[in-house]
Amino acid sequence: MHESLFIALEGGDAAGTTTHCHLLKGFLESKGFKVYLTQEPSSNKIGILVREFLKNKDIPPTTDALLFAADRDLHYRNEIKKKLDEGYIVISDRYIESSIVYQSVQSDNISVDWVKEINKFVGLPDITIILDIDPKIALARKETEELEKFEVSSFLNKVRNLYLTRAKDENYYIISSDDIIEIVQDKIQTLVINKLKNLS
Ligand code: TMP
Repeated sequence: MHESLFIALEGGDAAGTTTHCHLLKGFLESKGFKVYLTQEPSSNKIGILVREFLKNKDIPPTTDALLFAADRDLHYRNEIKKKLDEGYIVISDRYIESSIVYQSVQSDNISVDWVKEINKFVGLPDITIILDIDPKIALARKETEELEKFEVSSFLNKVRNLYLTRAKDENYYIISSDDIIEIVQDKIQTLVINKLKNLS
């Protein structure tokens, strides 16, 4: 049996985390690994509520932060940990860094440390990959879709800067997502395969 591995893909809106999580899952399965793909907000009841709140500008950032933390707590206990224990590679499309970055840039009352504190009961990923994207490219990619409350250029710039600072502080991998999908995915695959080789 292969060892389990917990991978989180992170990044600003339209960085392509969802596309790259799916492609990575297919790639790892083709190599014979058992892969469980999940996302946050999760598909549990709290996650569904949080997704609804993403369209509502009247929800305070503190409420968002607490609900994202509750969603993650349940998601980790009931899904992620179970799958890791069964020997799966778990890929999460967004995880704790999304809360640290998105919630703390919204309000001076929300510090990175407070977000970490309310999320302290969940397990952390073995690999966190930040897909870095220029907000101008991100918004151009989103042009035809309905925008959620976080998808405004000035906000996305703050998100980008904090992701990059966090990556430096925590030694996360940063991959530019301004390139075409194939190049970005190739870099992600190389990184994950190297990590798996080091485990075996
Ligand atoms: P997505 O499904 O397109 O990735 O959108 C999810 C949105 O939710 C995205 O704008 C980031 C935001 N988000 C947070 O603000 N905090 C979190 O903890 C998570 C997981 C997502």
